[in-house]
Amino acid sequence: MRFADDFVEQIRDRVSLTSYVGRHVALRRTGNRLVGRCPFHEEKSPSFQVSEGKGVYYCFGCGAKGDLFQFAMAYHGQTFAEAVSALAAEANLPLPTTNPGDEARMEQQQHKSDKMRQLLERGSQWFHQQLAESPGASARSYLTARGLSQQTIEQFELGFAPSDGNPLSHWLQKQQLDTTAAVEVGLLGKRDNRFFDWFRGRIIFPIRDDRGRLCGFGGRVLSGDQPKYLNSPESPLFQKSHILYGLHQVKQARQAGQKSVKDSAKDSAKTKGAAAGSTDSSMPHAGSSQRRLILVEGYLDVIALHQAGFPIAIAPLGTAITADHLHLAFGHCDHLTICLDGDAAGRRAALRTLQLAMPLITESRQLDYIRLPTGDDPDSLLQRHGQSAWQKLQDAPLTLEQAIVSLNAEGLDLTKPAARAKLHRLVRDLIGMIPDPVLRQEYHHALAQQLATWLAPYQQTMHQLPGKSNAGAASKNNDGGKNRRSYANKNAQDGFDSFSASSLHPMPPARLQQLQVASLLRVLMDHPDLWADVAEEAMQLPLQHPALDRLRGAMAEALCAPLNTKALLIELQNRGMQDGISLLQQPAINNILAPYQRLTDSISLRQRWQADWHHLMVDIDLNTIATPGEFPDQEAWERFQKQRLAQEQRRQQIWQQDNS
Ligand code: UTP
Ligand code: MN
Repeated sequence: MRFADDFVEQIRDRVSLTSYVGRHVALRRTGNRLVGRCPFHEEKSPSFQVSEGKGVYYCFGCGAKGDLFQFAMAYHGQTFAEAVSALAAEANLPLPTTNPGDEARMEQQQHKSDKMRQLLERGSQWFHQQLAESPGASARSYLTARGLSQQTIEQFELGFAPSDGNPLSHWLQKQQLDTTAAVEVGLLGKRDNRFFDWFRGRIIFPIRDDRGRLCGFGGRVLSGDQPKYLNSPESPLFQKSHILYGLHQVKQARQAGQKSVKDSAKDSAKTKGAAAGSTDSSMPHAGSSQRRLILVEGYLDVIALHQAGFPIAIAPLGTAITADHLHLAFGHCDHLTICLDGDAAGRRAALRTLQLAMPLITESRQLDYIRLPTGDDPDSLLQRHGQSAWQKLQDAPLTLEQAIVSLNAEGLDLTKPAARAKLHRLVRDLIGMIPDPVLRQEYHHALAQQLATWLAPYQQTMHQLPGKSNAGAASKNNDGGKNRRSYANKNAQDGFDSFSASSLHPMPPARLQQLQVASLLRVLMDHPDLWADVAEEAMQLPLQHPALDRLRGAMAEALCAPLNTKALLIELQNRGMQDGISLLQQPAINNILAPYQRLTDSISLRQRWQADWHHLMVDIDLNTIATPGEFPDQEAWERFQKQRLAQEQRRQQIWQQDNS
């Protein structure tokens, strides 16, 4: 049986050679290659290599070599047809049904597709030219206002479809190109026997598949008209669930990266006489980062990230993300980070994506999640906070277990036992979808721990039985009872009680956030050595309570000289900071900090602190805290309003740029 080249290539795109081989041979990464002991002959030292970039394996011992299909045939003793069927199942692709005469038909079809693509290319060149010429003036200034460089416009081959008349239709006719075919590929429409331009007054985003073949277009309005984006209609060439925008550019960037690594390896081989090959340690970009992808929502998110130096972003084409998209993505990476828009819809989509991805999880695939601030997408985040802010998010995504808990908790009122039970169930259902039993068990443990940490503050609230005074509840807690009692009494006076978990009030998310912010300051009070490393971040912590703000100032001053924990505490007390200290020692904060107790060395402590800081800063949606009554005093309320105003002004500026 003969398979269409296209079908075989589709399988190749979806099944990563390294992870497929890695299931049968223990592989170790060095540079761009993975090495292991050859499965085709007996050997003690590893001479078997797999190159993901080239999609081939080679054994220096016995000379065995080939691609994905040849490996499957040699390893399992399969025929080519058997290997294709098995790998198609692996790729989640149905086998094409074949009949006599199919071969001729397949060839015919191939020929037709080639012609269609040529037509698309011509159209794309025409759009690109319009953008460069006078009809594209407004589109050019729009793209400039959105921060796109000329180089980016070229790289992504952006174009413009003018708004008046049907200039593309006329041009195609003048060139004597096939207008009926142009309707089929979605360049033109046809109504009452007349051709019209499909895209009008829109910026054009040519969409290529991962092999670089042009498949269709996305078009964004410059102003007014809905819908905001119009895509080419679905056709045999343009199947939205099989294409990821940006993957082509990712592959180009990887190839350029590999080339530069190779070149510099050659250089170093020349200068030092070292063997080219194991360049991983000296080439930070050659290693694991090369096999990472970030899944975002929009075309402009992809483009903005590539332009900002993160050529690993991909996006679906305005349709929901499918299992097929994920198969395709995992065929090109072993670390996938999901980063959809920071709104309710984006978070729901992220959760759906995780659900689809759970069955694909293996030991060698990393899956995680970047949570964006409410109202942001990657593009707006880059605009507002710059490249380094993105870098930090990208370096410290939420782990899969953190993502699972936080996305499922979205919209649940966790002060209610039923909601907490529901969260447990949702999480358990997701873990159940991991196919490998050992991995499933490990995730089960990790998630149980994650849930415990997450729910602790709410459960703490519920433990306080009505009828017991705050002071009583607090002093029952084991150590340092004296401080706490005075703190609890003081609470009642300054109206700070609802900040504390020993209150009978349920804890809304904004309060929990304040506790989390305070807990980061507490870590620094307990581990003053850390201060020097993270002082800048510490100063940015949005501490709403004046006593904590003062305490932080005092810590900054005191820690100009190195102090140990005890000396710092004495110093702070001498500076009259007992109020703030007591706030930081409340039981609710101890609960939040439970995970820190397991961290013994200063490096993991610092990493954990910084990761928590990033997540928290992203999490803090200033708009969720909105009434003066929720602030301890007038000063804090005003400070908050100023912050919010500044944020709003930044948004306005971007909006104006957007619409000027
Ligand atoms: P967004 O509305 O988030 O747009 O849609 P965006 O990508 O951030 O674009 P800007 O920044 O407003 O210019 C995300 C993606 O959803 C699809 C497009 O693929 C878009 O990139 N979409 C959106 C549509 O297909 N149709 C629409 O009407 C809107
Ligand atoms: Mn956007």
